[in-house]
Amino acid sequence: MTAQIIDITRDRDGALRQACTVLGDGLPVAIPTETVYGLAADATNPAAITRIYETKGRPRFNPLICHMSDLDMAERYADFDPISRRLAEAFWPGPLTLILPLKPESGIHALATAGLDTIGIRLPKGFASELIRAFGKPLAAPSANTSGKVSPTSARHVADDLGEKLALIIDGGAAPVGVESTIVRVENGMIRLLRPGGVAAEEIEKATGLAVIRPEGPAAIIEAPGMLASHYAPGAAVRLNADHVEAGEALIRLGSAPVKGMELAAAVFDLSPSGDLAQAAANLFDYLKRADATGAASIAVTPIPDHGLGEAINDRLARAAAPRE
Ligand code: TXA
Ligand code: MG
Repeated sequence: MTAQIIDITRDRDGALRQACTVLGDGLPVAIPTETVYGLAADATNPAAITRIYETKGRPRFNPLICHMSDLDMAERYADFDPISRRLAEAFWPGPLTLILPLKPESGIHALATAGLDTIGIRLPKGFASELIRAFGKPLAAPSANTSGKVSPTSARHVADDLGEKLALIIDGGAAPVGVESTIVRVENGMIRLLRPGGVAAEEIEKATGLAVIRPEGPAAIIEAPGMLASHYAPGAAVRLNADHVEAGEALIRLGSAPVKGMELAAAVFDLSPSGDLAQAAANLFDYLKRADATGAASIAVTPIPDHGLGEAINDRLARAAAPRE
């Protein structure tokens, strides 16, 4: 099988129609979202969800995010406490996933939630939202990459990795946010951050007036397996907080300040010359893949401030740099 690729700027209606057909056949479709490309399938169909796990080589104890078109749809599947509702109103549609109590017998298949009594829900923007509306059912969708690899931010990334295993890839251009959604769970009136992502924790604090509780380091219970150490891993070693470049290393740089030794770098990738963290997030995964493709044995990355979207960038970089299993 080689995936058909449909560009939504050329044929949006055709893309919606074809995607609905493939989803209706119980097969996954790679779709653009504002964060990263997702591998979407009917969240109520066990055979379709099984295909997602098989295609990615993903462990089945790792639950999937269920994507909904609107709050009404989300409320058919989950119970909202007042703080989660406030977060939904403030950030949906957008790059925020809420972990919520699952309504029993709601129709979401247990394979999508890995049998948990909670469900991860997000309302995406753009084409993905139109597709869910047209299909009429929630779509379970992890990032559209082989498990453990860097997430795709373009249709090309998906085709290079999974093109032989898929029937259809929808090309919606470069994903504008570039890192996955922020995942939070509200418990006992507290907002716990399970994964930093496209919505900065500071924005959540501003919208709710509540502190966001960070995971407590390596001892924290692994609730979002995106928290597993080596994840988002390129082939090359990754060296963080670099203040210099070793000869032959690829360099990923934030800002435009010269880096010692950079004239000997195999290649230089500028995440954002002005130091803008949103632009840096949008470029991160593409540059990690491109740096890896230079064949350099090591990728040096200059320090990234840990505020705003920098928290998600540093989280993904730490995983990319973690010792491999
Ligand atoms: O931006 C995103 O979130 C992208 C796009 C496609 O929407 N999706 C994504 O999915 O990043 P994935 O599967 O790569 O990451 C989903 C994360 C996993 O770490 C999973 O463990 C967590 O969400 N998750 C899903 N349901 C959960 C639940 N009920 N409880 C705790 N964690 C959950
Ligand atoms: Mg993923």
